[in-house]
This record gives sequence, structure tokens and C-alpha cells, in this order.
Amino acid sequence: MRVADEIIQGLTARPRTLPPKLFYDELGSTLFGAITKLPWYTPTRCEEEVLRVRAADLGAAIGPGAVIVEPGAGLCEKFAWILPALEQPRAFVPMDIDGDTLRIAAGRLQRAFPSLAVDPRVVDFTRDLPWPDVDAGVRQVVFYPGSTLGNLDHAAAEAFLRKLASHLRPGDKLVLGVDLVKPEPVLVEAYDDPIGVTAAFNRNILVAIRQHVETDLDPRHFDHRAVWNPEVARIEMHLVARTAHRAHVEGHAIDFAEGESIHTESSHKYDRDRLEALAAVTGFEPEVLWTDHKGWFAVTVWRRT
Ligand SMILES: C[S@@+](CC[C@H](N)C(=O)[O-])C[C@H]1O[C@@H](n2cnc3c(N)ncnc32)[C@H](O)[C@@H]1O
Repeated sequence: MRVADEIIQGLTARPRTLPPKLFYDELGSTLFGAITKLPWYTPTRCEEEVLRVRAADLGAAIGPGAVIVEPGAGLCEKFAWILPALEQPRAFVPMDIDGDTLRIAAGRLQRAFPSLAVDPRVVDFTRDLPWPDVDAGVRQVVFYPGSTLGNLDHAAAEAFLRKLASHLRPGDKLVLGVDLVKPEPVLVEAYDDPIGVTAAFNRNILVAIRQHVETDLDPRHFDHRAVWNPEVARIEMHLVARTAHRAHVEGHAIDFAEGESIHTESSHKYDRDRLEALAAVTGFEPEVLWTDHKGWFAVTVWRRT
């Protein structure tokens, strides 16, 4: 399906939705980078703590001479953090939907580490996963931090992990960073910060979709809302219409009632049991799980069975 058709389908359905991959135009990636610096956005700070404290253990778990693939690598910052702990990695293959950000980040990484082969791939990983050719006997490692997995609902997360497993050979590894369930006020503030960066990121999706569709959807007509949905253990981000109004997308009229929302993102939160169950049904065996000192974020290493 064309991206334009995904957008039309999502906005004309009830409830209305937009796929979160559309956040990441150049401005969206920049705003996400700013979110990760916010004191209220716990996932990045907690994950950074785990990656720094466990760097040597992680290097040992990954082993020497690995080819490392990162889906949704964005600014490639986390790979840069762990790189000094890795023993002569053979290549790094970052993938992202935002080509401009990826190319700049991969170029920066390549200049900082000239002996590393950096092979960026601009791709929508929900459609295509262009895997590198890796010689038999060379270990492949998927590095999937940032709780990007959490943007997928449980069925889609399982399907994506199975897809990763299909590219890996027994003994290969998946290093997965996921945000954990924690008290609701902490979760909500992470997605509704008091200085409005996350609100700007959310509203920008209505601007970012203009590269795919003709539309008069106006971010000024929507409020940002983040809510915790305890039944499915996820934060949901919505854009809520301030007033009843009509907008258009590729000639389709869309009538918003006052208070009606567009669901733009879900961030599923995990716990140990859910992670173990997920590994078991997707072709992996958990090796280790580390958390930050508050127990708010987990980095786990799984072995392809
Ligand atoms: C939550 S951010 C995480 C970025 C980085 N891995 C980190 O840990 O900070 C999600 C990243 O995945 C990328 N992304 C989201 N959906 C994608 C898709 N369908 N295909 C490829 N990249 C995608 C975004 O552009 C963004 O860089």
C-alpha cells in the first residue's frame, strides 16, 4: 500500500490513526533528539545508564568480529556509546526511514571510526528489511534499543521479531532495549513534558505527512494528549480536535467532532514475564536482562535458538 493510502485509510477510519513512522521527517527526528534530552523522558536516560554500566558485559555478550544491524537507528548515538566496548566489529548497518538524518549520522560515525564499515540503509522496516550479506561463521547481532519495539502492538511486535529471527542464524544475538511498566505519573510526564517538546513532536506529524499527501490539516486545531492505557500497558499519544472542523486529505473530506482524536502513537511498556514469553514465541532464548538502578528500563540480550 502507498504511504498516501495508509494516511487516507488511517484518517478516514474510526478511531482515526496515523502510523508513528510518519513522525520522522527531518524536523521530527530533530524533535525526537530533543525529547531524549528532556529530564522527564526517562527511557533514554535509563537506557544510557544500563549501556554505560554494562558496556563491558555487553561487549562480551556480542563477541568479536560481529556484523551489527540496527533497525530505526536514527542519530546512531547509542551505537556510538557501545562501540568502544565492542571487539573489532566487522560492520555496522543502521537502518532508518528518515534518510537525511540517517545519512548525516552514519557519515559522522564513519568519520569518527574510520576502520569500521558503516553501511546505512534508508528503509521502512515495516515493509522491507534489506539484510546485508554476511559470511557463514560471522556472528550477526541486531541492536534494537530505544524501545522502538514498543511502538508496535503485540501482534506486530511478535511478527517483527520473527522477521529478525528469520535473518539470524543459531547463536546470533538480539540486543533489545525496552521501557518497563512504572508508576503512571512518571509514564505520562515522559510523553507530556511541561515545556511542550513532545507536543511539538506530536503536532509535527500533521506537517510531516505533507511530503506524502496534499492536505489542509492544521496543527493549530489540535491539542496534544498522552494517556496511560493500563489494560494494554501502553502510553497512547493523541491529537485532539479543539473544535469541530472539516479538513481534507487528497480530496477526501474529514469531519472532526470537537474532542475527537487522531491516535498517533502507542508506546507499549514491558515487564520481565512478557519479555520472556515474547522471546519464547519468536525464536529466541533470553541470556541476560539488565535494568537501570530504578528498574525502569531493560536491556536484554537474546540468543537465536
Ligand atoms: C524511538 S526512535 C529510536 C531511535 C534510536 N534507535 C534510539 O534508541 O534513540 C525510533 C527510530 O526508528 C525510526 N523508525 C520508526 N519507524 C520506522 C520504520 N517503519 N522504518 C524505519 N525506521 C523507522 C525513526 O525514524 C527513529 O529514528
